[in-house]
Amino acid sequence: MKTFVTVIGARPQFIKAAPLSNELRKRNREFLVHTGQHYDDNMSDVFFREMGIPAPDRHLNVGSGSHGAQTAAMLAKIELVLEEIKPDAVIIYGDTNSTVAGALAAAKLHIPVAHVEAGLRSFDRRMPEEVNRVVADHLSTWLFTPSEVSVRQLATEGITKGVHDVGDIMADSVRVFSPLADRQSGVLERLALQPRKYSVATIHRAANTDDPARLAGIFEGLRRIPGPVVLPLHPRTKAAVQRSKLEHLLSDTEAATSDTRRLVVVPPLGYLDMLQLQKNAGVILTDSGGMQKEAYYLGVPCVTLRDETEWVETVKAGWNHLVGADPARIAAAWEQCRACESREWPLLYGDGRAAGRIVEILAAKPVCGSSIPHF
Ligand code: UD1
Repeated sequence: MKTFVTVIGARPQFIKAAPLSNELRKRNREFLVHTGQHYDDNMSDVFFREMGIPAPDRHLNVGSGSHGAQTAAMLAKIELVLEEIKPDAVIIYGDTNSTVAGALAAAKLHIPVAHVEAGLRSFDRRMPEEVNRVVADHLSTWLFTPSEVSVRQLATEGITKGVHDVGDIMADSVRVFSPLADRQSGVLERLALQPRKYSVATIHRAANTDDPARLAGIFEGLRRIPGPVVLPLHPRTKAAVQRSKLEHLLSDTEAATSDTRRLVVVPPLGYLDMLQLQKNAGVILTDSGGMQKEAYYLGVPCVTLRDETEWVETVKAGWNHLVGADPARIAAAWEQCRACESREWPLLYGDGRAAGRIVEILAAKPVCGSSIPHF
């Protein structure tokens, strides 16, 4: 039986860890470390409750801070845990500051790293996530990719060993939790929404929230499309709206049942509500990476509020429109989504059974017959 330390800390990581953790624990010991990057109940605990993720074995309570301070605090604390637990490997997910801290702490202690969702690139090094991905990939022993494109990208950076195209772990999450969302989420009733007659929007990327002109452009775009548009407001975005004195953009939130509602601003939602809300939406507008894929898995067209995307396959397949923060382009893409009745649905990111494959591969010997990371 092997021992794995899993490092998670931000909302998308809880969603990715749920199916893998469940599979991993059938044959291995898992020691779960929560960095505390996300700490509000609706950004963290709700996912543990709803998705049956075991309580963290260690909570590092790192909280907010500048990128350097936050990542450094995690790094120091994860190192202590790894020295104590001495795991066979460390599992990290995606591209957050928790991901890169886990990768660095493990690699410096010569503990092999398994990176789930490896090989993604936006080719924009101003994005903190891009920096985190590049570093995490180059420090990893196992690189579990969601698609052929990510395998090719790693190869162009000289990484060919330990690369396994297992499919996207978030497809597992959708497959496993979608029936539960149907049974348990009452979000449509709660917000008085009719299936397909509303849109869902999320905004949280620093490139959008930290640039008042972009943020205003996105809100203007959302105001130009017919409502209701449901906006679960990320804490970063809420703070940015207040800081940039843009509160008036949120001001046309109306009575919960009114048919003339445009923007319906709600606090961040749990996974089951979010799945249900997305599944029944007419269009999804987002700058989230995960939601671009969820939109495609759920067969809902997506408008991406960024200038580039890591999930290029969704754009090529016609499910995703990249429009940036320009109001006219946002409104036009929304119209285009509504006008197109049917699209082909190619299998872009595997079959939703990545977790089983990852556990099989981790059970085998590390690559190169070595227990230290390759470079
Ligand atoms: C992080 C990830 C991003 C991921 C996103 C999902 C990095 C660099 N970015 O961005 O890849 O898509 O999570 O949400 O790791 N805050 C709260 N309550 C919370 C959590 C955060 O109020 O529970 C506030 C923090 O004080 C901070 C802001 O929200 O000011 C942003 O938090 P941060 O940790 O920078 O990450 P995200 O923007 O959420």
